[in-house]
Amino acid sequence: MALLDELEVLRTAALNDFGAAHAPELLEQARVEYLGRSGKLKVLMARIREEPPAGKKQAGQRLNAVKAELERIWEERKLALAAAVRAAAPLFDPSLPGLTQDRGSLHPLTQAMDNFTGIFERLGFTIRYGPEIEDVFHNFDALNMPDDHPVRDQADTFVLDSRSILRSQTSTVQIRVMEEHVREYGGGADMPPIRIVSPGRTYRPDAVDATHHYSFSQIEGLAVDKKVAFSDLKGFLALFARETFGPDTATRFRPSFFPFTEPSAELDISCVFCRGGGCRVCKQGGWVEIGGCGMVDPNVFRAVGIDGELFTGFAFGFGIERLAMFMLGIDDIRRFTENDLRFLGQF
Ligand code: DAH
Repeated sequence: MALLDELEVLRTAALNDFGAAHAPELLEQARVEYLGRSGKLKVLMARIREEPPAGKKQAGQRLNAVKAELERIWEERKLALAAAVRAAAPLFDPSLPGLTQDRGSLHPLTQAMDNFTGIFERLGFTIRYGPEIEDVFHNFDALNMPDDHPVRDQADTFVLDSRSILRSQTSTVQIRVMEEHVREYGGGADMPPIRIVSPGRTYRPDAVDATHHYSFSQIEGLAVDKKVAFSDLKGFLALFARETFGPDTATRFRPSFFPFTEPSAELDISCVFCRGGGCRVCKQGGWVEIGGCGMVDPNVFRAVGIDGELFTGFAFGFGIERLAMFMLGIDDIRRFTENDLRFLGQF
């Protein structure tokens, strides 16, 4: 048969097959058969060489025209089939992954805080909160830091107005709780004991770096009773350290000074990273400091109206970020406030 006649037969067959293909796979089969790299159209095209010179041009034009037409029809058919497939798909596809409900989690600082307060609650302490905007009396005066105390310098505290500051320590809550207690029971022989911990934010205009922030959290503790001794303080805090950092955590009390405690101590624990062997975190010393503590100063009892002849007490204050960094292995205090979900999602 002449080339052009064969081409017309092929064209009719191809159009038939494209039209009859009622699924994308069948249409693809037909495309390969007619338009594929070694398909029927290619075979005819190769035969142009055999045409007499006079017919070559005409044969070439017709072949190209048929090829373009078939490609166009095939494309239309493909789109129509895809649309039909989409239309026929069920609205609910049980094979698709389900819609998951993202679960939030508590901020690592909140987790650490809950952990610490939980330990003290089990030891009979009550959780009490105090205001972050404080007055000078509760932040300084009542804590035996008189007017001329260097820490009262404006450069060391956020001053809001002549009467209000942002609290620079949670020790303010000791004062508020003792005042309330004395209002209710009086500060004399009939006063029931006090055992509280107070977690919360504190503020100091410090330059921010990996271990300092202008806003950080503390947990304050206070126990007042007849015959509370320094050995009680040591016992409670050693237990706290073991509960938080593991049963073989050692504690060390170094003599120190705080205006509101006498005697005062700094509490160290054996380094949680090297277990006392010496590393970068403990600067090879084997110990890390976690906070201050001591026996309530008689001047503090006087300021709130508790009889310091009948009662004694211990107090302590720890930085929560610092404890949480040790506990969770976090290397930079700024992580807590950057709100980076890649960080927060790990806890
Ligand atoms: N308030 C102290 C500070 O911010 C920490 C502290 C030390 C609290 C000794 C206490 C304490 O209750 O007894 O540095």
